[in-house]
Amino acid sequence: MFTYGMPLNFKKWLDDHADRLKPPVGNQQVWQDADFIVTVVGGPNQRTDFHDDPLEEFFYQFKGNAYLNIMDNGKVERVDLKEGDIFLLPPHVRHSPQRPEPESRCMVIERQRPEGVTDGFEWYCLQCNHLVYRVEVQLKSIVADLPPLFERFYGDASLRLCKHCGATHPGKHAHGAVLPSSTTQQGAKP
Ligand SMILES: [Fe+2]
Repeated sequence: MFTYGMPLNFKKWLDDHADRLKPPVGNQQVWQDADFIVTVVGGPNQRTDFHDDPLEEFFYQFKGNAYLNIMDNGKVERVDLKEGDIFLLPPHVRHSPQRPEPESRCMVIERQRPEGVTDGFEWYCLQCNHLVYRVEVQLKSIVADLPPLFERFYGDASLRLCKHCGATHPGKHAHGAVLPSSTTQQGAKP
């Protein structure tokens, strides 16, 4: 038996998984049980959570355009991932990927988290940008571990209450509301 895998044709892989790369799933991991978590993410998808990854993340936006909302010292910045861009995100930079374009495709590479190294998921107040809620998790499976955490926040208005200004975070659906005011989104939202 091989002690190593065989190359796969990426274009064929994309075609074979096209149904997974659109809503409601929107992403597919290429290899299981590897140290590199290689995922392809498709659009359309927009989210309100900000991810605090303890390790680096690599992005290759190989089809269509997307962008990251970055929470930086109480301000939302925007990093555009234009078609053809590659980007290396340092550890702990709070980021919220926005993929408004249907059929867009991005390769994202993360690493398995060592035991004791946790991820954070955060939501910030849309009125005043203060942290509303943070949850930490020892991430084993990106697919299985996150939905329960997210549903808890979406389903409990007391968790979504901003203790700084009293506004309530809308939860899952706040499309466009976390955009930096200085920029406008090109193209139509889904
Ligand atoms: Fe607030």
